[in-house]
Amino acid sequence: MELMSRYPDNYFDLAIVDPPYGILNKTKRGGDRKFNMKEYSQWDVKPTAEYFDELFRVSKNQIVWGGNYFGELWLKSEYNKGYIIWDKNQPETLNNFSMAEMAWNSLDRPSKIFRYSVRKNRNKTHPTQKPVELYAWLLGMYAKEGDRILDTHLGSGTIAIACYKARFNLTACEISKDYFESSKKKIESVVPREAIQANAKDSFSINFPDQKNPMDKSYAVYKEHLEQLQLFAEKEELYVPDSKG
Ligand SMILES: C[S@@+](CC[C@H](N)C(=O)[O-])C[C@H]1O[C@@H](n2cnc3c(N)ncnc32)[C@H](O)[C@@H]1O
Repeated sequence: MELMSRYPDNYFDLAIVDPPYGILNKTKRGGDRKFNMKEYSQWDVKPTAEYFDELFRVSKNQIVWGGNYFGELWLKSEYNKGYIIWDKNQPETLNNFSMAEMAWNSLDRPSKIFRYSVRKNRNKTHPTQKPVELYAWLLGMYAKEGDRILDTHLGSGTIAIACYKARFNLTACEISKDYFESSKKKIESVVPREAIQANAKDSFSINFPDQKNPMDKSYAVYKEHLEQLQLFAEKEELYVPDSKG
């Protein structure tokens, strides 16, 4: 909420978010060796209606993972035309594992299915990590050149790698310092450090377009973004109490 409050209406073209589904007490995680109940319970808090209002204020379009858990989304439109399914290619015999995940989206497009298995991925750094390939597919399918992308729940940071590779500007935040630090490490293994802008005052947001070169097509977005960050800095200064309080 803090991050979004800094942005004007419709600033982002596309929000791709993956908030906690708030299903901890209602689900079994049988067989998931990476699952740590104590850690998970700290953040598995479903977002409020105010969160969705703010998300819809700052972004023109939204893709929301776990859309089936957030009833209020379906009331935002009379016409929920398309949803997105990620078919995880799980064997049906694994009763405790979901074979698919679903995202609600605001775009006027037919429903789509992305088929991709992560069963062989032994390098997960986050319990609910989504693959870079899924985000790359989403960007290819639903974003257009020059779009500004927002993710309010960065998690493992895989979206950042997909955005960088597809040359999209991403603004993201993550509430857990541990997850944020490990995602930053992962992002930095692919994205050059100078392309990541971590606002010193707000260490939990990162922004990057990869091009500072005025000849590059993405330069205009980059410049605008810097101006926006400058605006926050100036605004924040106005509210910093002086030494007399
Ligand atoms: C479902 S996971 C996101 C996983 C991510 N899409 C990935 O592929 O790794 C949700 C994340 O939201 C974070 N989170 C929970 N509440 C938050 C909040 N209020 N603001 C920002 N992040 C939050 C959690 O720490 C967790 O990492």
